Amino acid sequence: MKTVLSKMGQRTGVPPISWLMQTALTRPKLISLAAGFTDNATLPVELSRKLLNDILRSPKTGQPALQYGVTAGAENLRELTAKHLQKLDGKNATAKTHASGRVIISGGSQQLLYMTLEALCDEGDLILVEDPTYFVFLSILQSRGIQARGVKLERDGIDLVHLEKVLARLKKSGELRRVKALYLVTYFQNPTGATTSLAKKSAALKLLKKFERAAGHPIYLLEDAAYRELRFDHGDDIPTALTLPGAKERVIYTGTYSKPYAPGARLGFGILPEPIFTTVQRIKGNHDFGTANLLQQLLARALETGLYDRHVVKVRKNYAKKAAVMKRALAEHFPANVEIWESGGGLYFWARLPKGISAGVKSKVFQAALKADVLYVPGELCYADDPSRAKPDNEMRISFGSASEENIRQGIARLGAVLRKFL
Ligand SMILES: Cc1ncc(COP(=O)(O)O)c(C=O)c1O
Repeated sequence: MKTVLSKMGQRTGVPPISWLMQTALTRPKLISLAAGFTDNATLPVELSRKLLNDILRSPKTGQPALQYGVTAGAENLRELTAKHLQKLDGKNATAKTHASGRVIISGGSQQLLYMTLEALCDEGDLILVEDPTYFVFLSILQSRGIQARGVKLERDGIDLVHLEKVLARLKKSGELRRVKALYLVTYFQNPTGATTSLAKKSAALKLLKKFERAAGHPIYLLEDAAYRELRFDHGDDIPTALTLPGAKERVIYTGTYSKPYAPGARLGFGILPEPIFTTVQRIKGNHDFGTANLLQQLLARALETGLYDRHVVKVRKNYAKKAAVMKRALAEHFPANVEIWESGGGLYFWARLPKGISAGVKSKVFQAALKADVLYVPGELCYADDPSRAKPDNEMRISFGSASEENIRQGIARLGAVLRKFL
Protein backbone atom coordinates (compact mmCIF):
# COMPACT_ATOMS: atom_id res chain seq x y z
CA MET A 1 0.00 0.00 0.00
CA LYS A 2 1.10 3.57 -0.66
CA THR A 3 2.38 5.49 2.32
CA VAL A 4 0.00 7.86 3.99
CA LEU A 5 2.80 10.15 5.11
CA SER A 6 3.51 13.59 3.73
CA LYS A 7 6.77 14.20 1.90
CA MET A 8 8.05 15.82 5.07
CA GLY A 9 6.83 12.90 7.17
CA GLN A 10 8.65 10.46 4.94
CA ARG A 11 11.81 12.54 4.84
CA THR A 12 12.13 13.19 8.58
CA GLY A 13 14.93 10.98 9.86
CA VAL A 14 15.53 9.64 13.36
CA PRO A 15 17.18 12.52 15.23
CA PRO A 16 20.70 11.41 16.25
CA ILE A 17 20.09 12.97 19.63
CA SER A 18 17.32 10.48 20.53
CA TRP A 19 19.57 7.54 19.78
CA LEU A 20 22.34 8.97 21.98
CA MET A 21 19.93 9.68 24.83
CA GLN A 22 18.40 6.22 24.55
CA THR A 23 21.84 4.64 24.76
CA ALA A 24 22.60 6.65 27.89
CA LEU A 25 19.29 5.67 29.51
CA THR A 26 19.50 1.95 28.83
CA ARG A 27 23.01 1.46 30.23
CA PRO A 28 23.09 2.45 33.88
CA LYS A 29 26.87 2.10 34.25
CA LEU A 30 27.57 4.29 31.25
CA ILE A 31 29.09 7.70 31.88
CA SER A 32 27.55 10.08 29.40
CA LEU A 33 29.72 12.97 28.32
CA ALA A 34 27.38 13.26 25.35
CA ALA A 35 24.24 14.93 26.67
CA GLY A 36 23.92 18.69 26.37
CA PHE A 37 21.85 18.59 29.56
CA THR A 38 22.24 21.17 32.28
CA ASP A 39 23.50 20.07 35.69
CA ASN A 40 20.69 18.82 37.96
CA ALA A 41 22.55 20.33 40.91
CA THR A 42 22.11 23.84 39.47
CA LEU A 43 18.38 23.61 38.84
CA PRO A 44 16.53 26.22 40.92
CA VAL A 45 14.09 24.00 42.85
CA GLU A 46 13.68 26.13 45.97
CA LEU A 47 13.75 29.37 44.07
CA SER A 48 11.05 28.18 41.65
CA ARG A 49 8.92 26.90 44.55
CA LYS A 50 9.07 30.29 46.22
CA LEU A 51 8.29 32.19 43.02
CA LEU A 52 5.43 29.87 42.05
CA ASN A 53 4.00 30.18 45.56
CA ASP A 54 4.07 33.95 45.18
CA ILE A 55 2.27 33.73 41.84
CA LEU A 56 -0.35 31.28 43.06
CA ARG A 57 -0.88 32.94 46.44
CA SER A 58 -3.86 34.97 45.23
CA PRO A 59 -6.43 34.65 42.43
CA LYS A 60 -5.34 38.06 41.16
CA THR A 61 -1.93 36.79 40.07
CA GLY A 62 -2.74 33.07 39.96
CA GLN A 63 -5.67 33.13 37.57
CA PRO A 64 -4.01 34.97 34.67
CA ALA A 65 -0.97 32.71 35.05
CA LEU A 66 -3.20 29.64 34.70
CA GLN A 67 -5.11 31.09 31.73
CA TYR A 68 -4.17 31.14 28.02
CA GLY A 69 -2.00 34.10 27.14
CA VAL A 70 -1.02 36.13 24.12
CA THR A 71 0.72 34.58 21.10
CA ALA A 72 3.86 36.74 21.16
CA GLY A 73 4.30 36.20 24.89
CA ALA A 74 3.31 37.82 28.18
CA GLU A 75 3.78 41.59 28.03
CA ASN A 76 5.77 41.73 31.29
CA LEU A 77 8.15 38.95 30.21
CA ARG A 78 8.69 40.56 26.81
CA GLU A 79 9.59 43.81 28.53
CA LEU A 80 11.83 42.15 31.10
CA THR A 81 13.53 40.16 28.33
CA ALA A 82 14.16 43.31 26.28
CA LYS A 83 15.64 44.99 29.38
CA HIS A 84 17.74 41.92 30.11
CA LEU A 85 19.18 41.97 26.58
CA GLN A 86 19.77 45.71 26.84
CA LYS A 87 21.73 45.10 30.02
CA LEU A 88 23.81 42.35 28.40
CA ASP A 89 24.58 44.48 25.36
CA GLY A 90 25.32 47.53 27.52
CA LYS A 91 26.01 50.80 25.79
CA ASN A 92 25.84 49.09 22.40
CA ALA A 93 22.11 48.38 22.79
CA THR A 94 19.65 50.81 21.27
CA ALA A 95 15.98 51.34 22.04
CA LYS A 96 15.33 50.75 18.35
CA THR A 97 16.81 47.27 18.11
CA HIS A 98 16.19 46.02 21.66
CA ALA A 99 12.53 47.07 21.87
CA SER A 100 10.07 44.85 23.75
CA GLY A 101 7.69 45.07 20.78
CA ARG A 102 10.24 43.12 18.73
CA VAL A 103 10.56 40.34 21.33
CA ILE A 104 8.75 37.04 20.92
CA ILE A 105 8.61 34.37 23.65
CA SER A 106 8.63 30.72 22.58
CA GLY A 107 8.53 27.20 23.99
CA GLY A 108 12.32 26.99 24.02
CA SER A 109 14.55 28.58 21.41
CA GLN A 110 14.29 25.31 19.47
CA GLN A 111 10.67 26.17 18.65
CA LEU A 112 11.73 29.63 17.53
CA LEU A 113 14.45 28.25 15.26
CA TYR A 114 11.90 25.88 13.75
CA MET A 115 9.28 28.57 13.19
CA THR A 116 11.87 30.94 11.73
CA LEU A 117 12.83 28.32 9.17
CA GLU A 118 9.15 27.71 8.44
CA ALA A 119 8.69 31.43 7.85
CA LEU A 120 11.78 31.79 5.66
CA CYS A 121 12.38 28.62 3.68
CA ASP A 122 10.73 26.49 1.08
CA GLU A 123 11.92 23.01 0.19
CA GLY A 124 15.18 23.30 -1.74
CA ASP A 125 16.22 26.61 -0.14
CA LEU A 126 19.67 26.97 1.35
CA ILE A 127 20.98 27.93 4.78
CA LEU A 128 24.67 28.50 5.44
CA VAL A 129 25.86 26.92 8.68
CA GLU A 130 29.06 26.67 10.64
CA ASP A 131 31.10 23.56 10.00
CA PRO A 132 30.40 22.01 12.54
CA THR A 133 27.11 23.24 14.01
CA TYR A 134 24.24 22.40 16.39
CA PHE A 135 22.99 19.03 15.20
CA VAL A 136 19.31 19.50 16.05
CA PHE A 137 19.29 22.54 13.78
CA LEU A 138 20.60 20.26 11.04
CA SER A 139 17.75 17.83 11.78
CA ILE A 140 15.21 20.60 11.14
CA LEU A 141 16.87 21.36 7.81
CA GLN A 142 16.85 17.67 6.86
CA SER A 143 13.21 17.26 7.80
CA ARG A 144 12.05 20.34 5.94
CA GLY A 145 14.06 19.57 2.79
CA ILE A 146 16.26 22.63 3.24
CA GLN A 147 19.83 22.31 2.04
CA ALA A 148 22.85 23.37 4.05
CA ARG A 149 26.29 24.57 3.05
CA GLY A 150 29.07 24.49 5.61
CA VAL A 151 31.38 27.40 6.31
CA LYS A 152 34.67 26.58 8.02
CA LEU A 153 34.88 27.47 11.69
CA GLU A 154 37.86 29.00 13.46
CA ARG A 155 38.30 29.51 17.19
CA ASP A 156 36.92 33.05 16.97
CA GLY A 157 34.03 32.20 14.69
CA ILE A 158 33.50 31.48 11.01
CA ASP A 159 36.27 31.74 8.48
CA LEU A 160 35.34 34.91 6.58
CA VAL A 161 37.48 34.08 3.57
CA HIS A 162 35.66 30.78 3.24
CA LEU A 163 32.27 32.47 3.75
CA GLU A 164 33.00 34.79 0.84
CA LYS A 165 34.16 31.85 -1.29
CA VAL A 166 30.99 29.88 -0.54
CA LEU A 167 28.80 32.89 -1.38
CA ALA A 168 30.74 33.54 -4.59
CA ARG A 169 30.45 29.89 -5.60
CA LEU A 170 26.69 29.92 -4.99
CA LYS A 171 26.40 33.12 -7.00
CA LYS A 172 28.24 31.54 -9.88
CA SER A 173 26.11 28.41 -9.85
CA GLY A 174 22.88 30.44 -9.70
CA GLU A 175 22.00 29.04 -6.28
CA LEU A 176 22.38 32.30 -4.38
CA ARG A 177 18.73 33.15 -4.92
CA ARG A 178 17.90 30.16 -2.72
CA VAL A 179 20.13 31.29 0.17
CA LYS A 180 18.01 32.70 3.01
CA ALA A 181 20.29 32.98 6.01
CA LEU A 182 23.60 32.33 7.69
CA TYR A 183 23.12 30.48 11.02
CA LEU A 184 25.74 31.17 13.68
CA VAL A 185 25.87 29.84 17.24
CA THR A 186 27.87 32.76 18.50
CA TYR A 187 28.65 32.10 22.17
CA PHE A 188 30.49 28.99 23.45
CA GLN A 189 29.19 27.20 20.42
CA ASN A 190 27.55 23.82 20.43
CA PRO A 191 29.57 21.69 19.63
CA THR A 192 33.03 23.33 19.60
CA GLY A 193 32.85 25.96 22.37
CA ALA A 194 34.02 28.64 19.90
CA THR A 195 32.81 32.22 20.41
CA THR A 196 32.38 34.62 17.49
CA SER A 197 34.11 37.97 17.85
CA LEU A 198 32.08 41.12 17.21
CA ALA A 199 34.43 41.96 14.34
CA LYS A 200 33.51 38.69 12.65
CA LYS A 201 29.79 39.20 13.19
CA SER A 202 30.13 42.63 11.63
CA ALA A 203 32.17 41.41 8.65
CA ALA A 204 29.75 38.50 8.08
CA LEU A 205 26.77 40.85 8.08
CA LYS A 206 28.50 43.10 5.54
CA LEU A 207 29.33 40.14 3.32
CA LEU A 208 25.74 38.93 3.34
CA LYS A 209 24.62 42.43 2.40
CA LYS A 210 27.12 42.51 -0.45
CA PHE A 211 25.62 39.37 -1.99
CA GLU A 212 21.99 40.40 -1.52
CA ARG A 213 21.65 42.11 -4.87
CA ALA A 214 22.60 38.92 -6.67
CA ALA A 215 20.27 36.92 -4.40
CA GLY A 216 17.39 39.25 -5.16
CA HIS A 217 16.22 39.28 -1.53
CA PRO A 218 17.56 39.83 2.00
CA ILE A 219 19.98 37.26 3.44
CA TYR A 220 19.60 37.18 7.23
CA LEU A 221 22.15 36.63 9.94
CA LEU A 222 20.48 34.17 12.32
CA GLU A 223 22.33 34.51 15.62
CA ASP A 224 21.67 31.71 18.13
CA ALA A 225 22.98 32.83 21.52
CA ALA A 226 21.78 29.79 23.51
CA TYR A 227 24.91 29.58 25.71
CA ARG A 228 25.55 33.30 26.11
CA GLU A 229 24.83 33.46 29.82
CA LEU A 230 26.99 30.45 30.72
CA ARG A 231 30.17 32.53 30.65
CA PHE A 232 32.79 31.49 33.20
CA ASP A 233 34.49 34.79 33.92
CA HIS A 234 32.95 38.09 34.87
CA GLY A 235 34.56 40.16 32.15
CA ASP A 236 32.56 41.99 29.53
CA ASP A 237 30.46 39.85 27.29
CA ILE A 238 30.66 40.25 23.51
CA PRO A 239 27.76 42.31 22.15
CA THR A 240 25.29 40.61 19.84
CA ALA A 241 24.95 41.25 16.13
CA LEU A 242 21.83 43.24 17.11
CA THR A 243 24.17 46.10 18.02
CA LEU A 244 25.60 46.40 14.49
CA PRO A 245 24.53 48.91 11.83
CA GLY A 246 21.68 47.53 9.74
CA ALA A 247 20.84 44.87 12.34
CA LYS A 248 17.23 45.95 12.75
CA GLU A 249 16.47 44.80 9.23
CA ARG A 250 18.79 41.81 8.93
CA VAL A 251 19.55 40.14 12.27
CA ILE A 252 17.36 37.42 13.74
CA TYR A 253 18.42 36.81 17.34
CA THR A 254 17.42 33.79 19.43
CA GLY A 255 18.16 33.13 23.09
CA THR A 256 16.94 30.86 25.84
CA TYR A 257 16.17 30.68 29.55
CA SER A 258 16.70 26.89 29.42
CA LYS A 259 20.45 26.90 29.92
CA PRO A 260 20.81 29.62 32.58
CA TYR A 261 17.59 28.83 34.49
CA ALA A 262 15.93 25.48 33.71
CA PRO A 263 15.18 23.48 30.56
CA GLY A 264 12.10 22.12 32.36
CA ALA A 265 10.69 25.65 32.31
CA ARG A 266 11.47 25.64 28.56
CA LEU A 267 11.32 29.27 27.56
CA GLY A 268 13.07 30.77 24.59
CA PHE A 269 12.95 34.26 23.18
CA GLY A 270 13.94 36.15 20.08
CA ILE A 271 14.23 39.55 18.52
CA LEU A 272 13.07 39.41 14.93
CA PRO A 273 13.00 41.86 12.06
CA GLU A 274 9.90 42.45 9.95
CA PRO A 275 8.44 40.67 8.05
CA ILE A 276 9.78 37.65 9.97
CA PHE A 277 8.34 38.82 13.29
CA THR A 278 4.75 39.03 12.07
CA THR A 279 5.00 35.78 10.13
CA VAL A 280 6.52 33.82 13.02
CA GLN A 281 3.85 35.21 15.31
CA ARG A 282 1.16 33.93 12.91
CA ILE A 283 2.88 30.55 12.66
CA LYS A 284 3.08 30.38 16.45
CA GLY A 285 -0.64 31.11 16.47
CA ASN A 286 -1.07 27.86 14.57
CA HIS A 287 1.47 25.92 16.65
CA ASP A 288 0.16 26.75 20.13
CA PHE A 289 -1.14 30.36 20.20
CA GLY A 290 1.21 31.22 23.03
CA THR A 291 3.80 29.69 25.34
CA ALA A 292 2.71 28.32 28.75
CA ASN A 293 1.76 31.34 30.78
CA LEU A 294 2.65 29.91 34.18
CA LEU A 295 6.23 29.35 33.06
CA GLN A 296 6.41 32.84 31.62
CA GLN A 297 5.24 34.32 34.92
CA LEU A 298 7.80 32.22 36.79
CA LEU A 299 10.64 33.67 34.70
CA ALA A 300 9.14 37.16 34.85
CA ARG A 301 9.19 37.00 38.68
CA ALA A 302 12.72 35.65 38.71
CA LEU A 303 13.89 38.50 36.48
CA GLU A 304 12.02 41.33 38.18
CA THR A 305 13.12 40.33 41.68
CA GLY A 306 16.78 40.13 40.63
CA LEU A 307 16.81 36.49 41.79
CA TYR A 308 17.45 35.33 38.22
CA ASP A 309 20.73 37.27 38.08
CA ARG A 310 21.82 35.88 41.43
CA HIS A 311 21.01 32.38 40.29
CA VAL A 312 22.96 32.76 37.04
CA VAL A 313 26.09 33.76 38.99
CA LYS A 314 25.92 30.42 40.84
CA VAL A 315 25.29 28.47 37.65
CA ARG A 316 28.30 30.03 35.95
CA LYS A 317 30.56 29.26 38.91
CA ASN A 318 29.41 25.65 38.88
CA TYR A 319 30.16 25.14 35.19
CA ALA A 320 33.48 26.97 35.44
CA LYS A 321 34.49 24.53 38.18
CA LYS A 322 33.37 21.49 36.23
CA ALA A 323 35.15 22.72 33.09
CA ALA A 324 38.34 23.06 35.14
CA VAL A 325 37.93 19.47 36.39
CA MET A 326 37.53 18.27 32.81
CA LYS A 327 40.49 20.33 31.62
CA ARG A 328 42.77 18.77 34.23
CA ALA A 329 41.51 15.28 33.39
CA LEU A 330 42.04 15.88 29.66
CA ALA A 331 45.61 17.05 30.30
CA GLU A 332 46.28 13.98 32.40
CA HIS A 333 44.64 11.27 30.31
CA PHE A 334 44.40 12.32 26.66
CA PRO A 335 47.31 11.66 24.30
CA ALA A 336 49.25 14.84 23.49
CA ASN A 337 48.42 14.65 19.78
CA VAL A 338 44.72 15.20 20.39
CA GLU A 339 43.93 18.87 19.80
CA ILE A 340 41.62 20.26 22.46
CA TRP A 341 39.45 23.35 21.99
CA GLU A 342 38.83 24.92 25.35
CA SER A 343 35.94 27.32 25.87
CA GLY A 344 35.32 30.32 28.13
CA GLY A 345 31.78 29.14 28.84
CA GLY A 346 29.02 26.78 27.79
CA LEU A 347 29.01 23.03 28.32
CA TYR A 348 31.54 21.57 25.89
CA PHE A 349 35.10 20.70 25.00
CA TRP A 350 35.91 19.78 21.42
CA ALA A 351 38.62 17.19 20.74
CA ARG A 352 40.27 16.59 17.38
CA LEU A 353 42.08 13.32 16.82
CA PRO A 354 44.92 13.23 14.29
CA LYS A 355 43.61 13.11 10.69
CA GLY A 356 42.85 9.58 9.57
CA ILE A 357 41.69 8.37 13.00
CA SER A 358 37.92 8.14 12.98
CA ALA A 359 35.81 8.91 16.03
CA GLY A 360 32.55 8.51 14.08
CA VAL A 361 29.50 6.46 15.05
CA LYS A 362 30.79 3.34 13.28
CA SER A 363 34.42 3.82 14.28
CA LYS A 364 36.52 1.50 16.43
CA VAL A 365 37.13 4.39 18.82
CA PHE A 366 33.40 4.97 19.39
CA GLN A 367 32.69 1.26 19.79
CA ALA A 368 35.60 0.84 22.21
CA ALA A 369 34.38 3.86 24.20
CA LEU A 370 30.90 2.32 24.46
CA LYS A 371 32.49 -0.93 25.62
CA ALA A 372 34.37 1.04 28.26
CA ASP A 373 31.01 2.58 29.27
CA VAL A 374 31.66 6.13 28.19
CA LEU A 375 29.70 8.10 25.62
CA TYR A 376 30.59 11.21 23.62
CA VAL A 377 28.98 12.89 20.62
CA PRO A 378 30.78 11.89 17.42
CA GLY A 379 31.72 15.17 15.74
CA GLU A 380 30.55 13.95 12.33
CA LEU A 381 26.93 14.30 13.48
CA CYS A 382 27.47 18.04 13.68
CA TYR A 383 28.35 18.48 10.01
CA ALA A 384 25.72 19.30 7.43
CA ASP A 385 25.15 17.10 4.40
CA ASP A 386 27.06 19.36 2.04
CA PRO A 387 27.97 17.80 -1.30
CA SER A 388 30.85 20.26 -1.77
CA ARG A 389 33.05 18.66 0.91
CA ALA A 390 33.63 15.42 2.80
CA LYS A 391 32.51 15.28 6.45
CA PRO A 392 35.39 15.21 8.90
CA ASP A 393 34.98 12.25 11.28
CA ASN A 394 37.98 12.62 13.60
CA GLU A 395 36.33 14.83 16.23
CA MET A 396 34.32 14.50 19.43
CA ARG A 397 32.11 16.75 21.51
CA ILE A 398 32.65 16.13 25.20
CA SER A 399 30.25 17.70 27.68
CA PHE A 400 30.77 18.48 31.36
CA GLY A 401 27.15 19.68 31.71
CA SER A 402 25.29 16.90 33.45
CA ALA A 403 28.04 14.51 34.68
CA SER A 404 29.23 14.77 38.28
CA GLU A 405 32.85 15.82 38.90
CA GLU A 406 33.71 12.24 39.77
CA ASN A 407 32.11 10.98 36.55
CA ILE A 408 33.93 13.64 34.54
CA ARG A 409 37.28 12.40 35.94
CA GLN A 410 36.35 8.73 35.42
CA GLY A 411 34.81 9.31 31.98
CA ILE A 412 37.84 11.19 30.67
CA ALA A 413 40.18 8.58 32.14
CA ARG A 414 38.23 5.84 30.32
CA LEU A 415 38.14 7.80 27.07
CA GLY A 416 41.85 8.59 27.37
CA ALA A 417 42.65 4.89 27.81
CA VAL A 418 40.61 4.08 24.69
CA LEU A 419 42.40 6.76 22.68
CA ARG A 420 45.84 5.62 23.78
CA LYS A 421 45.04 2.22 22.27
CA PHE A 422 44.43 3.77 18.85
CA LEU A 423 46.86 6.67 18.67
C1 LIG B 1 22.87 25.85 20.04
C2 LIG B 1 21.53 25.55 20.63
N1 LIG B 1 20.49 26.28 20.24
C3 LIG B 1 19.26 26.06 20.71
C4 LIG B 1 19.02 25.06 21.64
C5 LIG B 1 17.61 24.84 22.10
O1 LIG B 1 17.42 25.06 23.45
P1 LIG B 1 16.02 25.39 24.08
O2 LIG B 1 14.95 24.95 23.12
O3 LIG B 1 15.96 24.65 25.36
O4 LIG B 1 15.96 26.87 24.27
C6 LIG B 1 20.08 24.26 22.08
C7 LIG B 1 19.86 23.16 23.05
O5 LIG B 1 20.71 22.41 23.39
C8 LIG B 1 21.37 24.52 21.56
O6 LIG B 1 22.43 23.79 21.92
